Formats: sequence, C-alpha cells, structure tokens
Amino acid sequence: MVSPGIIADADSKSLSLLVPFLLFLLITATSVTGDSLDSDSQVLLSFKSHLESWNPTEPGMYNEWETGKQEVCQWPGITCTPEGSRVTGINLRDSTISGPLFSNFSSLTQLTFLDLSSNTIGGSIPDDLSRCHNLKHLNLSHNIIGGELSLSSGGLSNLEVLDLSVNKISGDVRSTFPTLCNSLVVANLSTNNFSGRIDDIFNECRYLKHVDLRYNRFSGEIWAGFRRLVQFSVSGNRLSRNISASMFRGNCNLQVLDLSGNEFVGEFPGQVSNCQNLNVLDLWGNKFTGNIPGEIGSISSLRGLHLGNNMFSRDIPETLLNLSNLVYLDLSRNNFGGELQEIFGRFTQVKYLVLYGNSYVGGIYSSNILTLPNLSRLDLSYNNFSGRLPPQVSQSLTFLILAFNNFSGDIPYEYGNMRGLQGLDLSSNRLTGSIPASFGKLRSLLWLMLANNSLSGEIPREIGNCSSLLWLNVANNQLSGRFHPELTNMGSNPTPTFEVNRRKRDYIVAGSGECLVMKRWIPAEFPPFIFGLESLAKRSCRSLWEHVRKGKCIFPVCPPGSVVGPLDISGYLQLSGNKLSGEVPASISQMKKLSMLHLGFNEFEGKLPVEIGELPLVFLNLTRNKFSGQIPQEIGNIYNLQNLDLSYNNFSGNFPTSLNELNEMSKFNISYNPLIYGVIPSRGQLATFGKESFLGNPLLQFPSFFIQSGNNNNTSSGEGDNNGREEEEDDEAAIDMLAFCWSTVLFYVVALIGILVLVYLDCPWCRPWLGLVDAFMASLKRMLFSNRYSSVIKEKT
Ligand SMILES: *[C@@H]1O[C@H](CO)[C@@H](O)[C@H](O)[C@H]1NC(C)=O
Ligand SMILES: *[C@@H]1O[C@H](CO)[C@@H](O)[C@H](O)[C@H]1NC(C)=O
Ligand SMILES: *[C@@H]1O[C@H](CO)[C@@H](O)[C@H](O)[C@H]1NC(C)=O
Ligand SMILES: *[C@@H]1O[C@H](CO)[C@@H](O)[C@H](O)[C@H]1NC(C)=O
Ligand SMILES: *[C@@H]1O[C@H](CO)[C@@H](O)[C@H](O)[C@H]1NC(C)=O
Ligand SMILES: *[C@@H]1O[C@H](CO)[C@@H](O)[C@H](O)[C@H]1NC(C)=O
Ligand SMILES: *[C@@H]1O[C@H](CO)[C@@H](O)[C@H](O)[C@H]1NC(C)=O
Ligand SMILES: *[C@@H]1O[C@H](CO)[C@@H](O)[C@H](O)[C@H]1NC(C)=O
Ligand SMILES: *[C@@H]1O[C@H](CO)[C@@H](O)[C@H](O)[C@H]1NC(C)=O
Ligand SMILES: *[C@@H]1O[C@H](CO)[C@@H](O)[C@H](O)[C@H]1NC(C)=O
Ligand SMILES: *[C@@H]1O[C@H](CO)[C@@H](O)[C@H](O)[C@H]1NC(C)=O
Ligand SMILES: *[C@@H]1O[C@H](CO)[C@@H](O)[C@H](O)[C@H]1NC(C)=O
Repeated sequence: MVSPGIIADADSKSLSLLVPFLLFLLITATSVTGDSLDSDSQVLLSFKSHLESWNPTEPGMYNEWETGKQEVCQWPGITCTPEGSRVTGINLRDSTISGPLFSNFSSLTQLTFLDLSSNTIGGSIPDDLSRCHNLKHLNLSHNIIGGELSLSSGGLSNLEVLDLSVNKISGDVRSTFPTLCNSLVVANLSTNNFSGRIDDIFNECRYLKHVDLRYNRFSGEIWAGFRRLVQFSVSGNRLSRNISASMFRGNCNLQVLDLSGNEFVGEFPGQVSNCQNLNVLDLWGNKFTGNIPGEIGSISSLRGLHLGNNMFSRDIPETLLNLSNLVYLDLSRNNFGGELQEIFGRFTQVKYLVLYGNSYVGGIYSSNILTLPNLSRLDLSYNNFSGRLPPQVSQSLTFLILAFNNFSGDIPYEYGNMRGLQGLDLSSNRLTGSIPASFGKLRSLLWLMLANNSLSGEIPREIGNCSSLLWLNVANNQLSGRFHPELTNMGSNPTPTFEVNRRKRDYIVAGSGECLVMKRWIPAEFPPFIFGLESLAKRSCRSLWEHVRKGKCIFPVCPPGSVVGPLDISGYLQLSGNKLSGEVPASISQMKKLSMLHLGFNEFEGKLPVEIGELPLVFLNLTRNKFSGQIPQEIGNIYNLQNLDLSYNNFSGNFPTSLNELNEMSKFNISYNPLIYGVIPSRGQLATFGKESFLGNPLLQFPSFFIQSGNNNNTSSGEGDNNGREEEEDDEAAIDMLAFCWSTVLFYVVALIGILVLVYLDCPWCRPWLGLVDAFMASLKRMLFSNRYSSVIKEKT
C-alpha cells in the first residue's frame, strides 16, 4: 500500500511528475510486501516475538518495543531515515538474544545497518539475509552461529562491512566471495572454522581494505593480491607455499601484514620494502629460511617486526638499525646458536626485545643488550647463557626475563636500582648467594621469580618494602632462616604501579613472549589459576598480560567469611622446597590479596597462627614441615579454599570438623599427622575424599561406610568404640548419598538423550524445547562470561 503521507507530499508537485511516480510506487509496492513505517513496525514486532519465544526469561532492550507507547523510531536500538519514514538500522548488540537468527529481515527494505553481535545466536545464517538489498553493515560477531556460509544470491551488493568473527561457521567461503564483493571494505571472518582455499576469493573486491581471516582452517596458497589492502591478517591458519616477490610488486598500501602461525616456506622476499606504510610485519611461526631481507630496514614506518619461530639465518642485517620507529623486535626461536649477535646491543630504539629460545651460549657481557637506553622488556629465557649476570642494567627496564639459562654466581646488588622494574624472572638458573637486600627498593615490582636456583641465606626483611610485590616465587632453593614478620608487608599497595600501567598507552600487538612468561608466572595447575590452562592460547596471552599488569581482576576470590564478594587480585607466595624454619608470623593476616600460599617442603615449626583464617586463600599447602599443635578451627572460614594440604607435619589435638564447611574443597590431604584424633563427619565435604587423604592417622575415626567399602586401610582399633546407632545412621547416609548420586546421573542421562533426539529430529514442534536448551546454554555462557572468566575470554580476539 502507498501511504497517504507520500501522496500528500507529492500533491504539491506537478501532476505530470506524479503519474509516473505513482506508477513506480505501485509496481514496487506490489512486488514487496511492506514498504512503510507501519510494515516495518510489524516486522520488528514479529522479530520481538521471535526473540521472546527463544528467551522468555531475560529479554534485552527490545523488551521496550511496543506499539502505541512510542514512535517506532524511538524504540531502543532502532534508527530511521532522517525524516523518520523508514527503519534503517537495528542495533541489538549484547542484548541476551539466543535461538536462531530471525529470518524476515528482508522485509525491512530500507535496512542498512544490522548489529546483533555479542549474543548467543545459534543456528546457521538464513537465506533471507542475502535478500537485504540495502544492507551496508552486518555485524554478527561473538555469537555461536554455525553451519556453512552462503550469502550468495547476489543480493548483498551494497554491503560494506561484514563482521562474522568469533562464531562457529565452517566450510568453504567461495560460494560467498566474490559475489559479495561489490562494495565490501571490511571482511572479518576471524575465529571461526572456515576451511578451503583463499587464493582467488578477493580478486574482484575493488574497495576491500581490511581483511581478517585469523584463526580458521584455511589452507593452500595465500591470496596474492593482498598488497592492495590496508590490513591483511591470516594468522593461525594452515596456509603454505612461498610468499613470492611478485606479491609486492606495484602499489602497496599495507599497514598491517600478519602471516604468523601458518606453514609458509622459503625465503621472504625483500620486495616487502615496497610497502612503505607498513606498521606491523608479523611472520612469526612459519618455516621461513634464508636471510632476513635487509630491505626491511628501509620501511621507516615499521613499529613491530616479528620474525620469531622461523629458521632465519644468524646474520641480522645492519639496515634494521635504521628503523627509527621500531618498538618491538621479536627474533625468538630461530635457533641461532653461538653467542648473542653483537648487533642487538645497538638497537637503541627498541622497547621490546624478545630473543628467547635461540640456543645461545656464552655470556651476555659481550653485548650492550642490558644497557640499551630505551629497553623496557628484554626476554632472553630458554637459552644456554652461562657465567655471571652483568651488573650494569638499563634503568628503563620494566621486565627482565632471564629464566631457563645457565647463569651462575650472585644476583648483582645493582639490580635493586631499576626503579621501574615490574617483573624480574631469574628462575631455573644456577644462581647462588643470597637475595640482595637492595631488592627492597623495587617499589614497582609485581613479580619476583627466583625459583629453581641454589640461592641461600634468609629472605631479606627488606623484601617487605616491595609494596607492589603480589607474586613471589622462590621455590626450590636453599633459603634458610625465619619468615620475618616484616615480609608480610609485601604487596600491601600495588595500586600506584597498576595506575602507571593503566595510564600507559603501549604498542599493542600480540607478541610471542607473553604466553611463555604467563605460563611460568601463573601456576596454572593450581587453583585459582587453573582456568589458565585452556585460555592461555597465544591470542589471549596478550590480554591476560595486560589485565594482570593493570590490576584488573582475572580470578574470582571472596574474602573469608563471605560466600560472594568483590573480585580481586590473586597474589601468591611460593616458598616451598627450601630450608625455612621458625614460626609463621601472625601478621600474615595482613596479606589481604594472598590466594595461594605454598610453604611445603621446609622446616617451619610451631603452631599455625589462627590468623591464617583471615586470608582469602584458595590454595594452602603446608606439606612436609614440622608444624605442631592444634589445626586452627579458623581454616574452616576460608570458604574459597580448594586445595588444602597439611600432610607430613606434627599437628595434634582434635580434628577440626569446621573443615567440613569448605564446600569448594577439591583436594585435601591430612595424612601422616599421627597425633590427630577425633571423628571425620560422615556427611559433607570431607566424606568426598578417599583414604589417601587420611593415611597414617591412627587416632582418627572414620565414617563406617568409608571403612566397609574398603576405603580406609589404616583405621585404629578405636572404630569399635562407635556405638551401633551411629554406625547405622552413617550407613543410611551412605545409602542416601548413593541413591542420590544414581538418581542424579540417571536424570542427566535421560535429559541428554532427550536433547540429542530433539536436535536430531529438528522438527518444528521441538523448537520450543530447543529454546529451553538454548536459554540454558545462554545463561551458562553469560554466567561464565560475566563472572570469573570475563576479563580473559572477552578479549580473546
Ligand atoms: C515477513 O514480514 C512480512 C511483513 O510483516 C509478512 O507479510 C510476511 O508474512 C513475513 N514473512 C515471513 C516468512 O514470516
Ligand atoms: C562488531 O561487534 C563487535 C562486538 O560487539 C565489536 O567489537 C566490533 O567492533 C564490531 N565490528 C565492527 C566492524 O564494527
Ligand atoms: C571444524 O570443522 C571440522 C570439519 O570441517 C570438524 O571436524 C571440527 O570438529 C570443527 N571444529 C569445531 C571447533 O567446530
Ligand atoms: C619456495 O620454497 C621452497 C622450499 O623452501 C624453496 O625450495 C623454493 O626455492 C621457494 N621458491 C621460491 C620461488 O621462492
Ligand atoms: C640508514 O639510513 C641512512 C639515511 O636514511 C642511509 O644513509 C644509510 O645508508 C642507512 N644505513 C643502512 C645501514 O642502511
Ligand atoms: C627513546 O625514547 C624516547 C621517548 O620514548 C625518544 O625520544 C628517544 O629518541 C628514544 N631513543 C632512541 C635512541 O631511539
Ligand atoms: C643447553 O645445552 C645443553 C647441552 O649442550 C642442551 O642439552 C640443551 O638442550 C640446551 N638448552 C637450550 C635451551 O638450548
Ligand atoms: C653451565 O655452566 C657451567 C659452568 O658454569 C658449565 O660447566 C656447564 O657446561 C654449563 N652447562 C650448559 C648446558 O651449558
Ligand atoms: C621449576 O622447576 C620445575 C621442575 O623442572 C618446573 O616445573 C617449574 O616450572 C620451575 N619453576 C619456574 C618458576 O621456573
Ligand atoms: C602440595 O605441594 C606438593 C609439592 O609441591 C604437591 O606434590 C602436592 O600435590 C600439593 N598438595 C596439594 C593438595 O595440591
Ligand atoms: C591394606 O594394607 C595392606 C598392608 O599395608 C596392603 O597390603 C593392602 O593392599 C591394603 N589394602 C587396601 C585396600 O589398600
Ligand atoms: C575482527 O574481529 C576480531 C574479533 O572480534 C577483532 O579482534 C579484530 O580486531 C577484527 N579485525 C578487524 C580488521 O577489524
């Protein structure tokens, strides 16, 4: 239907113009169902009810879409033409949408902008979308869309921005490209499951500028036309063959070229210097051989040069010294061998120099590398450097990483003068002598990693002055002496350091060093750090690194005594495997950010201070010490505690049943404290642990089901003291628990089979049920994303 408004408008014009105009309108109006604001609002309302049917419980901002209440053009997330006559844009980013994509967008004939990103939309992309002829901007990123991509029917000829990143779409993209290419400027297909060849797909995309194909399974040769683009990123695919010189011939506009993590071979052509606007050249993780092309030295705009994890030859061209804007130089893992190339001592401009894993031998005296004036991060880990550590170091260093080498001798006193130092990693060397007291001057130090050396003497009291030091690992040395109360001041105020890091706008690109460093610094095998194991892929290491440095929360920790609490930083203190002795000071309760305390394999003695119950610990390991006296009841207040190891000590007295309150506990060991007596409760958390948690404690009494099921081989004759009634009760408890377990398992099995059947049938009447499943998945995802994993996973590019 033709709306009266248009006729009235047209009335003022001459009739001769009006007639053909009306004819035109009539023709289009009959071929397209709706062509007015009215029909647009009808479509939006059916879109709304589609959304509601798939997520009845938690509507997003579309909940406010209602006729009569407001003009359509005022509805949240809706934009219209300037005169308010048609709907042109829908933005429901992050609006708790689940279920499949609505399949009648094509009825909004003036739609140019559609952003449904950051939801949990599933299913596959419907054909209907290909009929949105006016669409210019389509963003479906960060959903769980699957299936294959086919936006083929040629209807999207106006599309300029296509962002499908972070979904699960698979298969070949060649049914979509080049048909979609007419107007395309941005194509982001990163982090999906696309496969197949890309060698010719963008040939006809004349306006294309940004192509991001990272983290898919594309294979075969690279698309040879990439030099026309501004950005071309194909990191993390299976592309192979050579990069040929001809690919750089002609006009090159590239600013970012990221070929990392593929299987390219051969020499890298020096003709890349034709790309004089290049900011980032990332060749990391391929099989490039031969010389590093000297021509790269003429690309004066270059800020990041990532050549690590290849097989380039040892000669570093002098021309690279000319790159005055170079900030990041990564030449790690090229197995250069021999002594450190002298030339690295002349890169006075670089801030990040990453040279780990090159099988270097000899010392680092011969190079000025440690005194480079602008150096901020130096990573020489995983080499075979030997000899003493040079005392002269650059004052500008914030991260000095020399772990996994063969350095010996003392740690130079002068290292305490690096005012801005935030991380020092000397772990896994052969260092001797004591920890310099001068380290107490390092007020910005966040990490101090000295584990796996032969350091001796006391941990100096001055370390307590390191007010930012949240993560201290001195495990496996020969440190002796007491745990001085002054030490508990460490990490008392890291905020100034975090604030410095928050203000700084660093050069951001995912380098290669971060993962190795984070994996060493974050003890991922222990809670609360366990999450890290999966998410520490290269692409997330960078953001994890940034988060930790800026003091943003990455691990959930609640203060003792409350079940939910503010998320906070999780510090650790790893002193295990030394000869530390004496008592643990009661002032340890000051360490309010400590979530992991490992004192195992030392000679600590005396009572464990009851104040330990005030710490937000997730991990407490006291194994193999000489602690004695009562186990503090107060440990039962540490509701976050997941690992508790008190084994091989001399604890005595009544077993604290308060430990049964620790519902999060997944590892527990109290073995070989032979003087402990008392009764292990038959219900609750403690009953979930097997006999290996209680070995060598002859005076402990166990629940009878525990004994009868052969769980415990080590019980005292005291078991006979249990009166029969109690035993019966315990039996019932055991049977109850068994019954409960089986019924739960059965429920889940049945539910799972049901879901599988529904998915398999894919029939219309099952949709509502699938909706429930989707809603469940959505709420699960939201819970995960908004809570403990949020900061890490959200930025997983
Ligand atoms: C799409 O919306 C139009 C206008 O509201 C309606 O006439 C048509 O039936 C809808 N088509 C489908 C497949 O739902
Ligand atoms: C698409 O949406 C995501 C997430 O909401 C956003 O980060 C991204 O910048 C958008 N893409 C484009 C090209 O605007
Ligand atoms: C990606 O697709 C392949 C088949 O093409 C399939 O085997 C694999 O499971 C998919 N991976 C994911 C993460 O969906
Ligand atoms: C391509 O790489 C192979 C394997 O390294 C090499 O033998 C060949 O010479 C290269 N070809 C070109 C044209 O660079
Ligand atoms: C560095 O640049 C200068 C001037 O741009 C040039 O004269 C010199 O030859 C270059 N040095 C090298 C080693 O390329
Ligand atoms: C070091 O950095 C400063 C500013 O960050 C810059 O002005 C200076 O030129 C740099 N020095 C060298 C040798 O590049
Ligand atoms: C260091 O040298 C030893 C002996 O030559 C060798 O076994 C080891 O792999 C080397 N380590 C590294 C990181 O290069
Ligand atoms: C480590 O250094 C010592 C001397 O300090 C030397 O004897 C030994 O061979 C070195 N080990 C390796 C693997 O280089
Ligand atoms: C210390 O050595 C152990 C065993 O080799 C290793 O697992 C651990 O990661 C090392 N710790 C550090 C901080 O390097
Ligand atoms: C306590 O530390 C020791 C030594 O690191 C380890 O073997 C043990 O598994 C730890 N206990 C728990 C419960 O994690
Ligand atoms: C009980 O202990 C004995 C001797 O210590 C051992 O031979 C037997 O295997 C143990 N039984 C169980 C069930 O652990
Ligand atoms: C593509 O999407 C990813 C994830 O949303 C984002 O990190 C990346 O910057 C985007 N690439 C471009 C070229 O916009």
